[in-house]
Amino acid sequence: MLEKYRETVEERLGAILPAEEAPPLSAAMRYSLLAGGKRLRPCMLLAAVEMMGENWREALEYACALEMIHTYSLIHDDLPAMDNDTLRRGKPTNHVVFGDGQAVLAGDGLLNCAYERMLADALAHPQSLERRVAAMAEIARGAGVEYMVRGQSLDLACEGKQGVDEETLLAIHTGKTCGMFLGAMRGAGRFCGAGSEAMDALTGYAEAFGLLFQYADDLLDVFSTPEELGKSIGKDADEGKLTAVRLFGVEGTRARMQALHDKAVASISHFQGAAQPFIRLAADMLTRRK
Ligand code: IPE
Ligand code: IPE
Ligand code: MG
Ligand code: MG
Ligand code: MG
Repeated sequence: MLEKYRETVEERLGAILPAEEAPPLSAAMRYSLLAGGKRLRPCMLLAAVEMMGENWREALEYACALEMIHTYSLIHDDLPAMDNDTLRRGKPTNHVVFGDGQAVLAGDGLLNCAYERMLADALAHPQSLERRVAAMAEIARGAGVEYMVRGQSLDLACEGKQGVDEETLLAIHTGKTCGMFLGAMRGAGRFCGAGSEAMDALTGYAEAFGLLFQYADDLLDVFSTPEELGKSIGKDADEGKLTAVRLFGVEGTRARMQALHDKAVASISHFQGAAQPFIRLAADMLTRRK
């Protein structure tokens, strides 16, 4: 349902990183960034901008920056020192192809590039500088020490631990997963100069949808196949990860997903008819992972 934005995002991502610069750095960055991926976060940012009545193409740099940050997080997530994965987006992981050191640097490069692009865009638009910087601040917050990096750190710290509870699981998921969706939705809100009620609606959707998404990811790690998913399966149990499935069981996870879906829909309904794409997206997430 976000196809309409995906092609434009894909095209722009291809143009952002020139192929000829500094091999192997650019090769390693392009390898993971242009390996496909659902492009969910950037498309959601653009769809949210359109939902609020602004021209979504104006926000393209912020959407692409979000995808670059997401891709960096995946490259680092797969490293032997983290989840030690060998398959991502249907291809060998970055470090398998380029080595651990180059993979770390490819991630660093994508992260930095994201902020360079957003700042350049903001500086190029003095009339809307404040809204653009505010959008960037939301993306930075979701990807940073308060959310994504913190969640990833906690995820690692809890690996193999017994007796971890629901509160810890929520902290991990809110950080590592919801943070990036908060960046997309709240970033779009700031880009459009949204008021506090609209910001609350965007926040509520991102929080519920992020958990829904991660619960589905945890289920897929048990039930999907590498062909379907483009990444290895069964890794969470192997690594002793704290997941929704481990804590709630399969049926318990599914029941909670229904509740999260309802919460996401209730939040985004603030935008009435314009919220349709997001309502469908939440429904897709519920059925996607049988
Ligand atoms: C994977 O995200 C990381 C998680 C938060 C579970 P996606 O499932 O969106 O991965 P891509 O971008 O489509 O590869
Ligand atoms: C990773 O969560 C989330 C981030 C990269 C921020 P997972 O470790 O569950 O993601 P996958 O399953 O490897 O895609
Ligand atoms: Mg991980
Ligand atoms: Mg992982
Ligand atoms: Mg996973």
